[in-house]
Amino acid sequence: MKFDNTVKIAPSILSADFSNFGAECVAIEDQGADLVHIDVMDGHFVPNITFGANTCKSIRPFIKTVMDVHLMISPVDAFIESFVEAGADIISAHVEATPHIHRTMQAIRGFDVKAGVALNPGTPAESIEHLLDIIDLVCVMTVNPGFGGQKFIYSQVEKVKTIKRMIGDRPIHIEIDGGITPKTAPIMVAAGADILVAGSSVFNGGSVENPEIYGRNINLIKESVTTNL
Ligand code: DX5
Ligand code: ZN
Repeated sequence: MKFDNTVKIAPSILSADFSNFGAECVAIEDQGADLVHIDVMDGHFVPNITFGANTCKSIRPFIKTVMDVHLMISPVDAFIESFVEAGADIISAHVEATPHIHRTMQAIRGFDVKAGVALNPGTPAESIEHLLDIIDLVCVMTVNPGFGGQKFIYSQVEKVKTIKRMIGDRPIHIEIDGGITPKTAPIMVAAGADILVAGSSVFNGGSVENPEIYGRNINLIKESVTTNL
């Protein structure tokens, strides 16, 4: 993915049909998704379990855009290679999931995969101060991780503005994850975000049989940004 700051929509398959991930990825990409956001949860770092690297590997052939893997797991480092082999283009790990986040980012980049650092709502922006020259993306959680369909946490708006200032003109994406809707999307883009993860607000109401609903939902988010800038 060449770096640019245009606003991109990354539907999260956490809200998709778990029995049909391949077809769901094809459907959302046909309907305008710019990336596919893959929420990996271990039931330890977050109070939910989804799937692992094997599932990512089986999904990978259906993704033509970018496979954006969000690791909500702890420990992290031992599993990085398996997600690289699964075909991840971006691997994000949580700063809260390891005492050695700098090493984790180095390890991801060492595989020539884009490295993202994810921050829970309670984690200050300053926690990434010493990572800015070894990351490609900051994932700002705007819900407490573990589930889709939660309420957006507005206190994260100021954090995004702070991160935007810290990044300066470095080629680092700011990704917002959780509670993105046509209402919250423009607020976060105005604060400095360029990648918007959206699970329930994309998948709700649609299906592989009715993918145009996905397209309508994606366009509603995109239009909310362009008309409110
Ligand atoms: C939550 C995940 C998010 C979630 C977003 O732990 O990291 O990606 O799927 O879902 P919505 O958009 O429904 O809040
Ligand atoms: Zn996520």
